[in-house]
Amino acid sequence: MRAQVGIVGAGPAGLTLAHLLHREGIESVVLEDRGREHVEQRLRAGVLEQAIADLLVDAGAGERLRREGIVHHGIELQFDSERHRIPLSDLTGGRAIVVYGQTEIVKDLIRLRVDADLPLLFDVSDVSVHDLESERPSIRFSHDGGEQILECDVVAGCDGYHGVCRPSIPAGVLSEFSREYPFGWLGILAAVPPSNDELVYSHHERGFALLSLRSPELSRLYVQCRPDEDLAEWPDARIWEELQLRLGLEGWTLAEGPILEKGVTGMRSYVAEPMRFGRLFLAGDAAHIVPPTGAKGLNLALHDVRLLAEALTSWYRSDSSELLDGYSDACLRRVWRAEHFSWWMTSLLHRFDSADDFDLKLQLSQLRYVTSSIAAATSLAENYVGIERV
Ligand code: FAD
Ligand code: PHB
Repeated sequence: MRAQVGIVGAGPAGLTLAHLLHREGIESVVLEDRGREHVEQRLRAGVLEQAIADLLVDAGAGERLRREGIVHHGIELQFDSERHRIPLSDLTGGRAIVVYGQTEIVKDLIRLRVDADLPLLFDVSDVSVHDLESERPSIRFSHDGGEQILECDVVAGCDGYHGVCRPSIPAGVLSEFSREYPFGWLGILAAVPPSNDELVYSHHERGFALLSLRSPELSRLYVQCRPDEDLAEWPDARIWEELQLRLGLEGWTLAEGPILEKGVTGMRSYVAEPMRFGRLFLAGDAAHIVPPTGAKGLNLALHDVRLLAEALTSWYRSDSSELLDGYSDACLRRVWRAEHFSWWMTSLLHRFDSADDFDLKLQLSQLRYVTSSIAAATSLAENYVGIERV
C-alpha cells in the first residue's frame, strides 16, 4: 500500500486531518486499532471553541454541527452558594462556544470518509512505524488476518496518549513535562433536559462539580472524585445526591433522570516537545494532555491538525518545508497557553486534600476577583472561547 500521508488513529485529530488533506487533493490512509462502533460511542468532550466549530463548517464537515450545535454566550461559576455569570461573548467581541459532542464530530467525519470511499481501516492491530528519519517512512500493521506495509511520505501520529507513535521516537529526543492531579472526574450522561441554560462550574467544600449538556434532552454532569474511584461504590442515587449537594442553590432544583452512562476520567497535564521526529508529526493527545476543566483537549487537537494540513499542503504545492519546519513551535505556543489555562481552572475550582484554610481563602478570593473584575473575567473569557493569536 502507498499513500502520501499515513495517519495513525481515527479520533478527532486523525479524522479531521484526513478530511482537510482530502480537500487539498492529498491522499491519506487512516489506521485505527479499535472498531467503528467503539470509536463512535466513546463519550468525551463537548465544548468547541467558535474557531474550531468554524473550521469544521468551512471544511464541509459541519452540516449537522450547524443544525444541532448549541451556541452558548456565557458560563456560570458557583461558589459560596451563589452563581456568577461570565458573559463570554460580551467580553470577547462577540465570540461564543458551541456545545456539540465529540462523538457526533467523529460520527460526521467517519460518514463523510466512508461515503467518499476513502481509505479508513478499523480493527487494525500490531501497528508500528519505521524509517522515520528517511524520506520513505512506513507503517506496518495487521488487518483481516494479513500483515501489511503502508509506505508514505509522512506519518501523522494522531493515536492519542496511549498510542504507539510517540513511544517510537528514540530515547533522548523528546523533552517531557507533566503534572498529575490527586483527583479525577466521575462523569454521567443522563436522559433529562439540562437544568440550566449555561454550563455551571461549581467550587464546593465537598469537591468540584460541573453541569453540562449534550442536547436539549441530555445532561452531562461531573463530580470530583478519587483518581482510582471504583464505580461500584457509586450507585445512581449516590451520584445524584452528591450532584444535588455540590450544585444545589436555594430556589433552583437539579432535575434527575435515568443515567445512561458513567465513567471515571483521571486528570493529568502533559507535553512532549518537539512534536516532530524526522517524517513523523504528532498531533492532539499523542503530544499533549490537559485536565478537562478548561474544555481545551479536543480544541487543541483540531488546532494542531489545521496547522499540519496547511503545512503539508504548502510542502506538496510549493516544495517549501518552511511551515512543516515551524509546525512544532507553532503548535506548542497554543499548547502551553492551554496548559496554563487548564491548570489554572483546575487549581481554582477543585478541592485538594493537601489544602489548608489559607489555600481555600486564596481560591475564594480569586473566584470573587474573576467574577467581579472585568479585567480578570476577560482573561478567563478569552482563554475559554479560544485565543485567536497566541
Ligand atoms: P483520541 O481521541 O485519543 O484518538 C486517538 C485514536 O487513536 C483513538 O481512536 C485510538 O483508538 C487510536 N489509537 C490508539 N493507539 C492506536 C494504535 N496503536 N494504532 C491505531 N490507532 C490507535 N476534553 C475536553 O475538552 N472535555 C472533556 O470532557 C473531555 N473528556 C475526556 C474523557 C476521557 C476519558 C478522555 C480520555 C479524554 C477527554 N477529553 C476531554 C480530552 C479529549 O477527548 C481529547 O483531547 C481528544 O479526544 C483528543 O483527540 P485525539 O484525536 O488527539 O486523540
Ligand atoms: C463536557 O460537556 O463534557 C464538558 C464541558 C466542559 C468541560 C469539560 C467537559 O470543561
